[in-house]
Amino acid sequence: MHQIFSFGSVSMPRTAMLAPMAGVADRAYRLLCRSFGAAAAVSEMVSAKGLCYGDKGSAELCAITPEERPMGIQLFGSEPEFMARAAAMVQQYQPDWIDINMGCPVHKVIATGSGSALMRNPSLAQEIVRAVCRESSVPVTVKFRLGWDDTCRNAVPFAQAMEDAGAAAIAVHGRTKAQLYSGNADWDAIREVKQHVSIPVIGNGDIRTAADCCAMYEQTGCDMVMVGRGSYGNPFLFREIAAAMDGAPAMLPTLQERMDTMLRHVRLILECNPQKPPEVAIREARKHAAWYMTGMRGAAQFRNRCYHLESYAQAEQLAEDFLRMQEEDGYHEA
Ligand SMILES: Cc1cc2nc3c(=O)[nH]c(=O)nc-3n(C[C@H](O)[C@H](O)[C@H](O)COP(=O)(O)O)c2cc1C
Repeated sequence: MHQIFSFGSVSMPRTAMLAPMAGVADRAYRLLCRSFGAAAAVSEMVSAKGLCYGDKGSAELCAITPEERPMGIQLFGSEPEFMARAAAMVQQYQPDWIDINMGCPVHKVIATGSGSALMRNPSLAQEIVRAVCRESSVPVTVKFRLGWDDTCRNAVPFAQAMEDAGAAAIAVHGRTKAQLYSGNADWDAIREVKQHVSIPVIGNGDIRTAADCCAMYEQTGCDMVMVGRGSYGNPFLFREIAAAMDGAPAMLPTLQERMDTMLRHVRLILECNPQKPPEVAIREARKHAAWYMTGMRGAAQFRNRCYHLESYAQAEQLAEDFLRMQEEDGYHEA
């Protein structure tokens, strides 16, 4: 049996949760990862201002289906009034919690003072957390990085400021804004944060294997782990992590299971986008299909075919050809 991780009214097995990833971890992705054992999920980041101004796309990002729960809605913005209004608006979707994005390094986001720019303005960040807490009937969490750059690594005082302002838990990605996604995540810095706050800390950055996840728990003392890119084309990672946390042997996917899951993922994308014609929705499936081939022998030519997928039938043909090629080449399952 797994230990339980909880904050406020939210609880989940202490294995690993899926990270918010705009443009990647959409509903299809979240459903798939949850089905393989991801402990929880978070929405793609939602613009508080977009919601307040009635943007349809922003509202659509907030919808939650029962199978995705527990699930948080992540808001971004830099104005406490808009963040508070957005927090009040998203209550109708009954999120299990609200997460505030204070880690995004994308220029368009930080140019408005949102995302990781808030790490340079802790008092405004606190105002935002207080404003969101006031309007939310569910716990409020904050996700941030180690700081702006190497000259401003303020994750410890920032974490304390978030706790003081009312955050129920924090998620820390072990990189600075300036690092973007380069270099290695600094897990020691996550440990330092953990040692200086009383609220739960969710460790994040560079979990690619179940062993990485166990090492993250061990090295940082974190309460929960969050996995992002390691799940690309590899939702099986959540199953492997759940087994490792139980001390059970890993159940690695066979090649057949990889291809079956790739096809299931493509079907989910089509099902989750009924408003789009299939030939449009399939485009969203291309990068995902390609990720399922990553690291396998002879994958390059197949990945190229993934980027040109026009229909589900083509995806099926691709999976069949890929499996046949691996068999002919004498591929042996591990
Ligand atoms: C394509 C992509 C989109 C992302 N979108 C978000 C987002 O919307 N909100 C957020 O807080 N973090 C976002 N992140 C950051 C991830 O949640 C995570 O912090 C980061 O990828 C490090 O974890 P990893 O090494 O497990 O991928 C995004 C990352 C990627 C690669």
